[in-house]
Amino acid sequence: MARLLAAACALLTLHIASSSKLVCHMTNWAQYRPGSAAFTPENIDPFLCTHVIYALATINDFNQVVTVEWNDQQMYSSLNSLKNINPALKTLLSVGGSVKGISPFIAMVAKPESRAVFIKSAISFLRNHNFDGLNLAWEYPGHNGSPMQDRERFTLLVSELSQAFIDEATEIKKAQLLLSANVAPLPSTVDKAYEVNKITPHLDFLNVLTYDFHGSWEPVTGHNSPLYRSAVDTVSQMQYNINSSISHWLSLGAAADKILLGFPTFGRTFELSGSANGLGALANGPAAAGPYTRTEGLWGFYEVCDFTNSATVSWINEQAVPYATYGKAWVGYDDQRSFSSKVQWMTANNLGGAHVWTLDMDDFRGSFCSDEAYPLINHLRMSMGFAPKPTTTPRPTTTKDPIAEFCYGRPDGLYENPADKTSYFQCYLGNTYLHHCQPGLIYWDSCKCCDWPAKASPIK
Ligand SMILES: *[C@@H]1O[C@H](CO)[C@@H](O)[C@H](O)[C@H]1NC(C)=O
Repeated sequence: MARLLAAACALLTLHIASSSKLVCHMTNWAQYRPGSAAFTPENIDPFLCTHVIYALATINDFNQVVTVEWNDQQMYSSLNSLKNINPALKTLLSVGGSVKGISPFIAMVAKPESRAVFIKSAISFLRNHNFDGLNLAWEYPGHNGSPMQDRERFTLLVSELSQAFIDEATEIKKAQLLLSANVAPLPSTVDKAYEVNKITPHLDFLNVLTYDFHGSWEPVTGHNSPLYRSAVDTVSQMQYNINSSISHWLSLGAAADKILLGFPTFGRTFELSGSANGLGALANGPAAAGPYTRTEGLWGFYEVCDFTNSATVSWINEQAVPYATYGKAWVGYDDQRSFSSKVQWMTANNLGGAHVWTLDMDDFRGSFCSDEAYPLINHLRMSMGFAPKPTTTPRPTTTKDPIAEFCYGRPDGLYENPADKTSYFQCYLGNTYLHHCQPGLIYWDSCKCCDWPAKASPIK
């Protein structure tokens, strides 16, 4: 009995860890950044995130999904080939954008026929390019030129998409395509944009965009992604924080396990215009654009890293996030410590996990922040309690390495590590990947799985 219970617990532990999502966005414009900031899917660690969302594809005048960049198809293929290395990885294509500031969703959702064309086009596009799902990136229904009726039309789109995905999966006997959406953080926007209790049942997860709360469009410094409100918030800004945003989503009946909290790997900058340099200090527009992201008002984490070498770093206690300032420049950003606080909040509220905007603004090569590659996202992954990632040993060229050579001549599959029962090998195309079991478990070749050591035979 005790043994069974222990086994059940092990399964439960594995289940909890694996049901939590770590969804990472990448952008197809990050390829154009200079030097070591240029990012393509080859720079993705296949074991870092549970899902990768490729931003961005768009919708043409005929309501069909189309590429944006000249080399999108090549990058789709290199992204989706990561699933050969990590078969558990899921990929989604984000569809959105705007033409002259107007979202192509507005025209598409207006009629049942145009929604049907879009849905059919999306399914064949995703299947042709080997994606596992679709992410809707419309900011936002009922806003920025979108009429009030789009709130209901978005519900129709979401429910028709999800029904079409169910039907298609049944017909072709394949795993159902996933459906997710990027959704607004501010309660006042949410109320106008979504019928929350009607859309959430049809979505696999919702990426709440819990950043851009404050930025250089405001007259005083404020943080990009604070966990709580601050004493310097004006009355109208009191809900410009994660706690207010997600609490609002939950109060409207969104299932907590479908809500993903947004973790930014970027900060938002200001140029100070007075002598004060704290939170709520007078500012006049953005600091100089970063040399790599080259975008006014925003610095990637690797640019913040460079800045903090000379800047003064402060922690905003009541908001659980840091800022840094030097001369006239001010940036509110996230670091390992603020990610940990947010993970604690996320866990306490039983959310479905995290989504990260973006892979390409973390120090993805480990070349800027005198740390490992992906210092922020690796920290997030660890704080969320995921099992350690398998370590990849590249094929050695000259020196002999027994671990790296383990898979030479072996068929693809999982194998015991004779030197360490708490780990095992995965062979793929002659390359060796060393995986670690969750703490307390050992690898059993009979089930090709990790399970408790103290029993006669592992349960399947
Ligand atoms: C977080 O939000 C809840 C719900 O709106 C509120 O009751 C609570 O006071 C907030 N916490 C802080 C520290 O602001």
